[in-house]
Amino acid sequence: MAHKSAAFGLKWRSSPTDIRNHYAKRSAQYDKEVSDEIGYVAPRKAAETLATWIKDKDARILDAGAGTGLVGKCLQQLGYNNLDALDICPEMIEIAERKGVYKNMYVDILGGPNPIQLPSNQYDAVVCVGVIEQPGPAVLDELIRITKHNGIIVFTLRVDIAEDPDEVDFKQKLPTIESENKVMLLSKPRTAYHDVTDCFMYSYKVLKEA
Ligand SMILES: C[S@@+](CC[C@H](N)C(=O)[O-])C[C@H]1O[C@@H](n2cnc3c(N)ncnc32)[C@H](O)[C@@H]1O
Repeated sequence: MAHKSAAFGLKWRSSPTDIRNHYAKRSAQYDKEVSDEIGYVAPRKAAETLATWIKDKDARILDAGAGTGLVGKCLQQLGYNNLDALDICPEMIEIAERKGVYKNMYVDILGGPNPIQLPSNQYDAVVCVGVIEQPGPAVLDELIRITKHNGIIVFTLRVDIAEDPDEVDFKQKLPTIESENKVMLLSKPRTAYHDVTDCFMYSYKVLKEA
């Protein structure tokens, strides 16, 4: 159905203010909408993917663009207990907080005018689900910065965006960070995302030492 194809009517690459307002309005219905209406399985798939790379349940993990905490909940169910969350939208973060899965929660803008508030080389892993299409692939520089050497980044990239001929940023950025040895591609299987589209489930290992 057409209204479900993008982010519920939010145009890609919207301004931070528009993104925040959009999710603030949707926050109370978000969990019900994505589970009952669009069969959103990406959070569970991403958590399971991360679990294939990170065996230590105490690993420090950031859920970047955590929204209402669906990914954190799945990671908690898999036994992870050292989770932080970051999102642009305080109303989404407030709902995530009620799930009781995150230690630290941050309101901040990925890909905004300034770097996010988190120090470099802090996380064993970063997971970013249903987010990157909005700000674009430049956010990967920030995710790499906050991840430790040999840490893992798992993110979803919708197939309809990855294969859109007008969408050039991902086609340029991903091969660039791979060829510059900032990351090593571990896998990117095509997998279910929600009822409307699949995604590529990217797993990168972060490389910081020559
Ligand atoms: C489709 S929701 C996904 C939320 C959660 N990861 C999940 O899978 O349910 C997208 C989330 O990304 C957040 N977001 C979008 N652009 C962002 C940005 N530039 N910086 C931080 N968060 C952002 C939104 O506020 C929203 O909570």
